[in-house]
Amino acid sequence: MIKKKRAEDASHRILSYLRANPGEWVSGKSMGDELGVSRAAIWKHVRYLRSLGYRIEASPRLGYRLLGPEPLHVVASGMWKRLIPLESVGSTNDFARDIASESESGTVVIAEVQTSGRGRLGRSWLSPAGGIWMSVILKPNAPPTEAFRATMAASVAVCKALSSLYGLEARIKWPNDVLLNNKKVCGILTEISAELDVIKYVVIGIGINANIRASEFPEEWNATSISEELGREVSRNELISKILEELELSLKSEDLYQDWVHLSATLGRRVRVYGFNEVIGVAESLGSDGSLMVRMDDGTLVKILAGDCMHLRTSDLVGTALNSGEVTRYA
Ligand code: BTN
Repeated sequence: MIKKKRAEDASHRILSYLRANPGEWVSGKSMGDELGVSRAAIWKHVRYLRSLGYRIEASPRLGYRLLGPEPLHVVASGMWKRLIPLESVGSTNDFARDIASESESGTVVIAEVQTSGRGRLGRSWLSPAGGIWMSVILKPNAPPTEAFRATMAASVAVCKALSSLYGLEARIKWPNDVLLNNKKVCGILTEISAELDVIKYVVIGIGINANIRASEFPEEWNATSISEELGREVSRNELISKILEELELSLKSEDLYQDWVHLSATLGRRVRVYGFNEVIGVAESLGSDGSLMVRMDDGTLVKILAGDCMHLRTSDLVGTALNSGEVTRYA
């Protein structure tokens, strides 16, 4: 048992080493010296990793290199009853909706690549290999007015997972974008099917730019990825497992709303929100129903239930504070 554990540790260390140099050759000697593993043992571990689906090329002259993203092999546990891994799909949300009626609550669909990934407000969502594109199906016994809890729980879970695995300070831009250093790293698309008083199912779509180079995003998107922020690639399997663990805790937590408020990057900021109308002002508070309260420059307080929020610059914020004379807190 201990022997097996030690062997897994060594395989894991070899994998991390290769991951730090994705697509590049690393010599067996330098890897062996650094990790304290013989060259023969490295070869054995590489064969084991290959059996798990990792694409590792070996060359007697050049050493080893890791090709492509690691295979997805997350195991179901807790409230997550079934995981459906897909190579390529149009959209995991569409796939999840198609199977939702016949599926158990707690089914998770994960794809390597989406060819027609969807974002909020009818936008498309870029989903190349290396990211995490997944949708979870939930069947809570709750009225449709409770559906916002699912989205809240997902954004809180992603922030907590990024913090506990990598020490990253992720924050939530209202309503549910997850930001790293003020750039978007994760988007969430929640869709529900409901009768008047009860939810039939909720599909929470979570898209995370995990191991994606910044050059893949147009600059005006203000997007980033985890690998870009950390300077190294991460294990998607480890991250998915952590997010599912945190999502289960968040969905059951009585502190969900407080956590969501605590992690907000929007509170106190000067914002422009496009909902039914355009509203510009200071984000004054967040409601337990997922709403945003914005104090406009003329003093009116507007409650917004859904929309697209843009954080304005601090210089805009100071101007307003001076003009309105009543806003005293800004981040
Ligand atoms: C947004 O910020 O606009 C939401 C983006 C949501 C993207 C995810 S990726 C997995 C799931 N499948 C989709 O087609 N969209 C969501």
